[in-house]
Formats: sequence, C-alpha cells, structure tokens
Amino acid sequence: MANKVRVALIGCGQIAKHLHVPDYSFCPEAEIVALCDLIPSKAKALAERWAPNAKIYTDYRKMLDEVKPDAVTVALPNYLHAPVTIAALEAGCHVNVEKPMACSVAEADKMIATAKRCKRLLNVNQSQRRFPPHVKAKEVIDSGILGKILHVTAMFGHEGPEFWSPTGKWFFRRKEARFGAMADLGVHKADLVRYLTGKEVAEISAFFERLEKKNTDVEDNFVSCLKFTDGTVGTLCASWTLKGMDANYTILHCANGTLRIGEIPGKPLVANLVNPGCEIVFDVPAAVTNNDETWGLDVGGAFVRAILGLEKPYCPGEDGKKSLEIILAAEKAALTKRTVRLKH
Ligand SMILES: NC(=O)c1ccc[n+]([C@@H]2O[C@H](COP(=O)([O-])OP(=O)(O)OC[C@H]3O[C@@H](n4cnc5c(N)ncnc54)[C@H](O)[C@@H]3O)[C@@H](O)[C@H]2O)c1
Repeated sequence: MANKVRVALIGCGQIAKHLHVPDYSFCPEAEIVALCDLIPSKAKALAERWAPNAKIYTDYRKMLDEVKPDAVTVALPNYLHAPVTIAALEAGCHVNVEKPMACSVAEADKMIATAKRCKRLLNVNQSQRRFPPHVKAKEVIDSGILGKILHVTAMFGHEGPEFWSPTGKWFFRRKEARFGAMADLGVHKADLVRYLTGKEVAEISAFFERLEKKNTDVEDNFVSCLKFTDGTVGTLCASWTLKGMDANYTILHCANGTLRIGEIPGKPLVANLVNPGCEIVFDVPAAVTNNDETWGLDVGGAFVRAILGLEKPYCPGEDGKKSLEIILAAEKAALTKRTVRLKH
C-alpha cells in the first residue's frame, strides 16, 4: 500500500506489548512510526521486536510535534487518558484510547467534543468486543434463536494487576487509576453486556470492598445488580483476589435457552436450547488470557480500517462513555447504599 496510516504508541507497557504493537505490525495498512514511554527501554524493546524503524520518545508532546503521526494509541495509566487523547486529537491524530476512556463523564464529554471539533476518529479499546467467543456470541444472539434475553451474568476476575504489570504500581493508586477492579475489569463487562444485548442499563446497585490488597486506596472486589431499560435483570462483578483460577464469563439466560460464554473450561461458547432441545458447542478459539504473549485481536487493524472508512469503529467514544457511566453509577450506588438511575 502506497500511503500507510502512520501510527504511534503513547505508553509502551503491558497492553502495548501484548496487544497494540503486535496488532499494528500485523496490519498491512499501518506503519508504526514512533513509540513513546517515560521509560525508554520499554519503547526500545518493542521497537526491536516489532518496529525497528520507529522513533523512540519519552515526551509525547515532542513526539506529536516532530513525528506528526496520523493516529495514536493511548495506552497510559487511566488519569492520563483524557489529557493525552485531547492533545493528540488537537495535534491532528485519530485516537484509539484504552479503557476506561476517562476518569469522569466531564472528561469523556470533552474528548468526544474535541474529536468532533478536530474531525478525528475517537475509538475506545473495549477489546472484549473482539474476543472470538464474543464475536460469535453476538452473531448467535442477533440470530434470535435464544429468544428474549431475561437475565445476564457477567464476571471478570484474576489475582490482581501486580501479576500482569509488575511495574504498574499506578493500578493501586486511586489518583492515577480512579477505580480498582471496577475500572480495570468491571468496565470490560459493563461494555460487553451492553454490546451483546443491545440494551442499556437503567438502574444499578452495588457493593465494593477492599478485602486483601494492601497499600492501596481502591477496591479489589466489586459486585453490582443491574436492571436494563426493558426490565431485563443481571449482575456484573469484578475481582482482583481470585485464587487457583481466573474468571472471564458471561451467561445469558433467555426465553429459549441459555448461552454460556467462557464459563466451561475447553468450551468457549455453548448454547443450551429448549426448542429444539439441544446443546450447541461452537467451534471458536477461547478468549485470550493475560498469559498469552500476543493476543491477536486485530484491534490495530480494525482501528486503521475505520480511519480509512473501510469499516465502522468497533467502539466509538460515545459507546466508551456509556460503559464508563455504568461503573461511575455503580460507585455512587456503593457509596450511597442506594440504587442509582442512569439517564438515557
Ligand atoms: N483492553 C485491555 O484488555 C486492557 C488490558 C490491560 C490494560 N488495559 C489498559 O491499558 C492502559 C495501560 O495499562 P498497562 O497494563 O499497559 O499498564 P502499564 O503500567 O504496564 O503501562 C503503562 C505505561 O505507561 C507509561 N507511562 C506513564 N506515564 C507516561 C507518560 N506521561 N508518558 C509516556 N509514558 C508514560 C509507563 O512507563 C508504562 O510503561 C490502562 O488504561 C489499562 O486500563 C487495557
């Protein structure tokens, strides 16, 4: 391709290493032109492995100014998502920002407004939308064979971010992460249940607790009850204290059966139908785990193709904001011990 989309990474930590940089390097329409991290050795290591021609920076403003990339991925601690995204949009870049897109609705609104004003694409990397079992589940749900969705259960948990990003101390500092397990994991499932069901959350009640993690001011466990605008009910939970196994499952109980995603080891997607009575085990690859070296979700390719107008963005800024609103409402519900209504 003559004119590739020139992309840069801002933040070269774990998610850049496992997902964004490999994905961009596999994308024929993209060229990685710069890698930026406060710790230059991290950017250099990724350049050596995936993008030998990329320029290395420690200051993202300097990088934006000198390299003028067409697009950037913002893979930084959560409190930097909004300011860095806005700076990149204003520098003329399309932006794929990590989840949660921001730390407040006001920040999310500003990011969305800036993208509009600058006529740039703003996408949020709600990457669970691209997990193969979730892509297939969406197809199955949309086919209508399950009937009306009645009850949804979603859970995401592991042993904690210290086992994922050994240098990522910010995950435990409220000022930098905004939330604990809710922002890290809960927002994934908040987004996924909206995406799969096509329904919006109307009300939420929640608890969050810090049960085990020391030296932190964020929650390590979070449970919530949801009611959707059409009366469908559900639960949404996240944990950083799971032992012996991770959890990354979503179950949809529907009028004509149940769809189980990531719940049964070795069977990523299973439907148990009432009529005709049968069990369907779908032949799809399992969801990625933190232990997989390269996730291969093609998020970089999807983002670049959306920039080129070849497909729709997989999670536009407005969608990212709705998932953020759910976890903010959950926090409010937990703090006030009351059910919180979301405005639509
Ligand atoms: N979509 C997913 O599945 C997924 C998975 C994990 C993390 N994430 C998100 O990705 C983001 C990054 O998480 P991570 O696990 O890679 O964290 P990490 O701590 O491993 O990486 C963050 C990197 O940002 C760098 N950094 C910090 N401040 C900087 C600055 N001002 N300029 C340049 N670099 C700076 C750090 O040096 C570090 O290398 C978070 O928002 C997290 O929620 C998403």
